[in-house]
Amino acid sequence: MGKPRVLSGVQPTGNLHLGNYLGAIRNWVDSQYDSENFFCVVDLHAVTVPHDPTVLAENTRAIAALYLACGIDLSCSTIFVQSQISAHAELAWLLNCVTPLNWLERMIQFKEKAVKQGENVSVGLLDYPVLMAADILLYDADRVPVGEDQKQHLELTRDIALRVNHQFGTEDKVILKVPDPAIRKAGARVMSLTDGTKKMSKSDPSEMSRIAILDSPDEIRKKIKRCKTDPVRGLEFDNPERPECSNLLGLYQVLSNQTQEAVAAECAEMGWGQFKPLLTDTAIAALEPIQKKYREILDDPGYLDTVLKDGQAKANEVAQATLNRVKAAMGFSLPGV
Ligand code: TYM
Repeated sequence: MGKPRVLSGVQPTGNLHLGNYLGAIRNWVDSQYDSENFFCVVDLHAVTVPHDPTVLAENTRAIAALYLACGIDLSCSTIFVQSQISAHAELAWLLNCVTPLNWLERMIQFKEKAVKQGENVSVGLLDYPVLMAADILLYDADRVPVGEDQKQHLELTRDIALRVNHQFGTEDKVILKVPDPAIRKAGARVMSLTDGTKKMSKSDPSEMSRIAILDSPDEIRKKIKRCKTDPVRGLEFDNPERPECSNLLGLYQVLSNQTQEAVAAECAEMGWGQFKPLLTDTAIAALEPIQKKYREILDDPGYLDTVLKDGQAKANEVAQATLNRVKAAMGFSLPGV
C-alpha cells in the first residue's frame, strides 16, 4: 500500500498570520514525510468575496513562496495553484448537483461572511464549501490538516462523498474516498491579540489583532506589547475567565515547541511584564528563518515558476483521473471511451 494522501490549502487573501501557520501550514510540514502531499493555493476561493485582480495575482505567488519558506519539501509534496487545474471547477459543478441547498445554508462561515457582505453576497460564497469538497475529493485525500474553523466544511465534504458513493457507486465500486480531518489540538484555534474570545483572522480590520508571518521584529514587539491581557498575576491555561491568557500561553507553547505541562510550570508564577518579552523573543526567533527563506525564494522568480509548473502537471494528472471516474459513474460519455 502507498503512503496516505494529504491535501490542504490556504486562500491568497491578505497576509498569512500565526493562525494560518500554526493551525495549518506547520502541521503540513511536520507530518509531510509520512504521506504523499498536495498543497494548493486556493485562488478560486479568494474571489468569493470582492477582490482586486492585481493583488490576487501577487498574493497567489506569495502564498506559494510561503509554503516553501515554511518548509514544504518538494521531494514528498506538490505545490500548485487551484485555478490552474480546471478539474476543480468542473467537479464542483457535478457536486453542486448532488448537494442539497440546505446543507450549504447552515454553514457557519457562510452565515458569518454573508452578514458582512450584505446585499452583495455572491452565489460563490454559498458554494465555497462545495468547491472545497472538490479540492479534497479530487486527490483521494485520506487526511486534511486544517484549523478548527474548517471542521464543519470537512464534515460536509464527507457527507457529499458518501452521497455520491450512495447514488452512483456500488458496494464494490466506491467513487470517492471519504477523507478524515486532521485537526491538532495545539494551534488549532489561535485567537485575536485584541480579544481572546475572537478567532485571529485575516479579515479583522485591526492589524493589531494578528501577527503576520512576515511581520518585522519591531511590528511583532509592538503588537505583543499592546495585546490584551488581564490584571491577574500568575499565568494559566484553560481558565474560561482568562481567554487572552490561555491564547498567549498556547502561542508560546507551539512557537517554543514545548508541552502544555512544561509551559504551565514555567509560567505559573510569571507576571505579564516577564512573559511578554519571552513570547516576543520566541515569536521573532520562530519567524526569522521563514522570512529569510521567503526573501530568497522571491529573489529567484524563475524557481517559483518551475515549482508551480511542475506542481500543475502532477496535480492535473491525479485530478483528471478522479474527475473522469466521477463523470463515468454519473453517466457522462468520455472522449475516446
Ligand atoms: P483560509 O485561508 O481561511 O485558512 C487557511 C488555514 O488556516 C486555518 N486558520 C486557523 N487556524 C488556527 N487558528 C486560526 N485563527 C485560524 N485561521 C485560519 C484554517 O483552518 C485553514 O486550515 N477553507 C480553507 C481553504 C481551503 C481548503 C481546501 C483547506 C479551500 N480548499 C481544501 C483544506 C482543503 C480556509 O479556511 O482557508
